[in-house]
Amino acid sequence: MVKICCIGAGYVGGPTMAIIAYKCPDIEVVVVDISVPRIAAWNSEQLPIYEPGLDDVVKQCRGKNLFFSTEVEKHVCEADIVFVSVNTPTKTRGLGAGKAADLTYWESAARMIADVSKSSKIVVEKSTVPVKTAEAIEKILTHNSKGIKFQILSNPEFLAEGTAIQDLLYPDRVLIGGRETPEGQEAIKALKDVYAHWVPEEQILTTNLWSAELSKLAANAFLAQRISSVNAMSALCEATGADVTQVAYAVGKDSRIGSKFLNASVGFGGSCFQKDILNLVYICECNGLPEVAEYWKQVIRINDYQKNRFVNRIVSSMFNTVSNKKIAILGFAFKKDTGDTRETPAIDVCKGLLGDNARLSIYDPQVTEDQMQRDLSMKKFDWDHPLHLQPMSPTTVKKVAVVWDAYEATKDAHGLCILTEWDEFKTLDYKRIYDNMQKPAYVFDGRNVVNGDELRKIGFIVYSIGKPLDAWLKDMPAVA
Ligand code: NAD
Ligand code: UDX
Repeated sequence: MVKICCIGAGYVGGPTMAIIAYKCPDIEVVVVDISVPRIAAWNSEQLPIYEPGLDDVVKQCRGKNLFFSTEVEKHVCEADIVFVSVNTPTKTRGLGAGKAADLTYWESAARMIADVSKSSKIVVEKSTVPVKTAEAIEKILTHNSKGIKFQILSNPEFLAEGTAIQDLLYPDRVLIGGRETPEGQEAIKALKDVYAHWVPEEQILTTNLWSAELSKLAANAFLAQRISSVNAMSALCEATGADVTQVAYAVGKDSRIGSKFLNASVGFGGSCFQKDILNLVYICECNGLPEVAEYWKQVIRINDYQKNRFVNRIVSSMFNTVSNKKIAILGFAFKKDTGDTRETPAIDVCKGLLGDNARLSIYDPQVTEDQMQRDLSMKKFDWDHPLHLQPMSPTTVKKVAVVWDAYEATKDAHGLCILTEWDEFKTLDYKRIYDNMQKPAYVFDGRNVVNGDELRKIGFIVYSIGKPLDAWLKDMPAVA
């Protein structure tokens, strides 16, 4: 029986390994992590991450050929294939702070693999890493290996949160990069055999190591760039009376462009896009390509602009002040169907409103109060100017209430902001909400989920990203 061990039981390691175990009953999969509570949660009824369909898959395989453990060294030692799926955040200090990927966790995992291994292994980069990381990892492994042979492969993960199970079951492609030596090709084949249990062969792409590593950064940069492009258009739509949904539809009908990933929004969030683009920017700078670096930086600048623009629109439309006004925040996760809040635009919008002294009442079906308070108190890393901003004062934190119901959140509020596109926000009883709000009552739809015209009939003043503006909003132009 082939044995797989995955280091890192996070949003990628957990679901990815669960699907491998589910589709490959002849393979034993152990997911290991240094975090005791995380592993305990994977072994419990309440998994550490919310992901539609994940519970079923884990329940079917756990204890049979899928295991979660904190005995990292033991399972690494026993494995034939070791996936490394640890976090690779942006460096917050030292050389490259604010841009470069922090490979501390990766390096310590690699050193540990070298230390504990007693047999040859294939080591798979699952984490998103800078191009050429495999070379550094190879050096660590071979210099510390006591003669054991390691083959390193790059197998970046393309799943998106909220749809991870579907993405893993039916991937557009699986990408495997390896050395162009006979041993490298043999390792590629071994990993290909794992995916071939359920992925059609023509969808398993094989490349050299550097192409695989760079393709992951490139894919995320292209995806984020589409969102910044449509968000840039949304500002122009508001200025001209065009409707961004109609523009995106017309543009996306061109088969060369395609219709997906063109939803204008308050801005993209998530643990990947910003981090990976900053990483790409840093690599370009290090390779003497400042123009290319500038080009990709602009994708993040537009994203920041979009979040600021949203806050400014709220404040300006409420007579230029939200001081002590209650604002309801519907949705805090970075997208629907996840409880993940990493880099969620909600953090910036809430901080912007708190900066203007608003009182916030936040509701999200999957994010805990603790998590929101932590996010809002956290130091923010300013990517363009590596400065640590001050955390919020305890008095500011007191201005945040977290509630478990959209009606409670909006009661007596002056305005409501939709920041995550949860399906339930489409079908709320907006008449009931309107009746219980202060007047004039505002809706600021950061995800274009509600029907603005229906809400206007109820009496709301409605702002929807990139849609023609109400006369009220036109009279109070927001300064970006
Ligand atoms: P995560 O923070 O959810 O999980 C990483 C886990 O690794 C943590 O539980 C941490 O405790 C563990 N870990 C760190 N160092 C360790 C060590 N030395 N030994 C054992 N465990 C260790 O991160 P994630 O979201 O799963 O992302 C992991 C990687 O995958 C990142 O490089 C990310 O860029 C990439 N990625 C993420 C997504 C996504 O949607 N989240 C998608 C594709 C790729
Ligand atoms: C992304 C990539 O899609 C995935 O391939 C990669 O493996 C990890 O990073 P993820 O961040 O989980 O996945 O979710 P994604 O669906 O890409 O959404 C990212 C952000 O963009 C969210 O905040 C989402 O709301 C926003 N978004 C997405 C838009 O604003 N408009 C869109 O049209 C699509």
